[in-house]
Amino acid sequence: MTSKLKNKTALPAGLNLKQIPAHIAVILDGNGRWAKSKGLKRLDGHRKGAEAVDNLLDTLLELKIKFVSLYVFSTENWKRPRTEITGLFKLLDEFITKREERMLQKGIKLHISGDLSRIPAKVRIKIENVQNSTAKGKNLTANFCLNYGSKDEILRAAMLCYQQMQLKKISRISEKMFSQNLDTAGLPDIDLLIRTAGEKRLSNFLLWQSAYAELYFTDTLWPDFSKKDLLAAIVDYQSRIRKFGAIADN
Ligand code: IPE
Ligand code: IPE
Ligand code: MG
Repeated sequence: MTSKLKNKTALPAGLNLKQIPAHIAVILDGNGRWAKSKGLKRLDGHRKGAEAVDNLLDTLLELKIKFVSLYVFSTENWKRPRTEITGLFKLLDEFITKREERMLQKGIKLHISGDLSRIPAKVRIKIENVQNSTAKGKNLTANFCLNYGSKDEILRAAMLCYQQMQLKKISRISEKMFSQNLDTAGLPDIDLLIRTAGEKRLSNFLLWQSAYAELYFTDTLWPDFSKKDLLAAIVDYQSRIRKFGAIADN
């Protein structure tokens, strides 16, 4: 009910529907602080954070944004207490299971970035099943970054490129070839990268893909991130002049 109400927020007058970012990346941070501020457990914050993901996906569909990357679990997050890690994967399993039907109805395709080999087998199988069942989704590609770290991804891509160079007997690699060996192959580069909860760092997220992303930082904690917050980020993005190294048009 609440999520429905939240999603009724009208589009702001300043929003230019012709200049919507094609690919938004989100570092969804602040679940723990949200829980603490309410005297709840960290896992309650993660649970609430999962609801905020539902709202986000609905708004992206409404805006006809085709790609989103969500930082769900980093290669560094293994440093957290075992109980939190186990709880997070249990929550992820529940989230994917419960949302499969909805993703199919809404035309959302599940894409995964990260090294799944370290993810508990039960969750990994579930993820792979939903990846297969939603593969034809045309409206939105939701790239869940799980056990993801840019440095790890880049090393794995370098290894793949090396193998292909040997196989094809070539001595050079292009940016295109390298991109095609990243977990995000087939997805466009990031236009807008949002980080919640006040931190101003990338924490090893999509470093190659965000080379020319516009960065947006907000103090809002992830579980409180609403449609209004996303629209504010997009309006701000639209005020930037993206030059990509060239000179701005007059
Ligand atoms: C982000 O929230 C979610 C994950 C990293 C899984 P945090 O758990 O990092 O929340 P804070 O930063 O402790 O508030
Ligand atoms: C980044 O958040 C990782 C995810 C959102 C999954 P963290 O909370 O782990 O990042 P740091 O430790 O503050 O840089
Ligand atoms: Mg954090």
